Amino acid sequence: MAQNSENSTNQDNFQLTSGGDSSLDLPRLKGTIGPDVVDIRRLYSELGCFTYDPGFVATASCSSELTYIDGEQGILLHRGYPIQQLAANSTFTEVAYLLLNGELPNSSELSNFEGQLSNYSMIHDQLTRLFSGFRRDAHPMAIMVGVVGALSAFYHDSLDINDPQHRMVASYRLIAKMPTIAAMAYKYSIGQPFMYPRNALTYPENFLYMMFGVPTEEFEVSPVLAKAIDRIFILHADHEQNASTSTVRLAGSSGANPFACIAAGIACLWGPAHGGANEAVLAMLEEVGSVNHIPEFIDRAKDRDDPFRLMGFGHRVYKNYDPRAAVLRESAHAVLEELGVRDEPLLELAMELERIALEDEYFVERKLFPNVDFYSGIIFRAMGIPVSMFTVLFALARTVGWIAQWKEMIEDPDQRIGRPRQLYTGPVERNYVAMDQRS
Ligand code: CMC
Repeated sequence: MAQNSENSTNQDNFQLTSGGDSSLDLPRLKGTIGPDVVDIRRLYSELGCFTYDPGFVATASCSSELTYIDGEQGILLHRGYPIQQLAANSTFTEVAYLLLNGELPNSSELSNFEGQLSNYSMIHDQLTRLFSGFRRDAHPMAIMVGVVGALSAFYHDSLDINDPQHRMVASYRLIAKMPTIAAMAYKYSIGQPFMYPRNALTYPENFLYMMFGVPTEEFEVSPVLAKAIDRIFILHADHEQNASTSTVRLAGSSGANPFACIAAGIACLWGPAHGGANEAVLAMLEEVGSVNHIPEFIDRAKDRDDPFRLMGFGHRVYKNYDPRAAVLRESAHAVLEELGVRDEPLLELAMELERIALEDEYFVERKLFPNVDFYSGIIFRAMGIPVSMFTVLFALARTVGWIAQWKEMIEDPDQRIGRPRQLYTGPVERNYVAMDQRS
């Protein structure tokens, strides 16, 4: 595709020429920042062909006002605000409000929003029985997919996705209930009774209370832990059109129930190439075991015949240090110190692994840097969060982004059911072969 030259009709368009005789002027759309996009919607009707882009490396699937990433510079903005500023100054509920509503809340808007979240934080008692259908050793992400999906059976009748108020209530419900469901998934796995949320606690405090409290005694939530986990929630809140968010949008594009759409997002997030990487990083660091073994693992990561990859490294969009990883790397030592964890060998190992990888030609050439999952697990571990819960925490925080993106999609006048096309490479039409004539 060649950008239009002087002889074209519109300087701002792209001109696509096919086989010399047919050509098409395609509009060039401009965002507020970031690369322009070519509007190819008339391509099939006018030239009879599709675009081919497996993995969507050069495809904008929608327009969005929520989150901007500059992968070359390592910039991440939510509604224009740099992630570093949000991580340093705001709370997760403020960021959730920002993503949902477009502006930072004033104090009464925030307390009203937090009040709504408190109102919706319990789950229907019948839903608690669903847990007992799972094996005790079920992965908590499997439980999350099932239980969050099951919310659709509880709120389907009262949900009209075309009603803005209903959409907002669905958003409150999801954001409010995720910590409750996540903590229940953990309690179920260790055989302890479920803890119910307490309205006097903040969002991160409530999660820690439900995770680590027991009904038989008072539980004081550590402010250090609450602040640390809140910051990690902020760093995971949204990340534009990643695989799980695109899954939520695609599921929602058919008009499906939003709780079911978020369950689809959770399923997608679980994969080790996506949110499941935080769990995989810890497993990898434990397998590496000591600094002496790092070269061996680096060699394996570089070997095309070995499926092993350095988990927590590389990103489709970031070709520079992931700004979220930079915040976590900086705060990891401080958080561990505040938590009283001295000499965490896995942190030292991770930093050495990072140092060696960043000097290696293979990683330099491919612009592979640590991503958000590289350091988050080490901090979670220091907080006493079990490894199997790492991706659940990612899902809990990302629910805010998913639901904000879902809402934006439903409200977008350009929205249509998502229906990609394909390059068919199967057999051409042929006649049915009777069983006795098959080889
Ligand atoms: N270790 C070793 N080689 C790698 C890695 C890695 N972690 N990541 C990419 N490469 C190589 C890859 O083999 C390829 O090499 P070549 O050009 O010689 O074939 C090149 O770098 C480009 O990689 P790609 O697979 O084409 O890139 P992608 O954009 O399709 O994949 C990724 C991105 C994140 C899935 C991938 O980097 C990866 O698998 N990383 C490890 C898993 C991980 O940390 N995922 C978390 C992502 S960030 C948070 C989130 O999304 O949840």
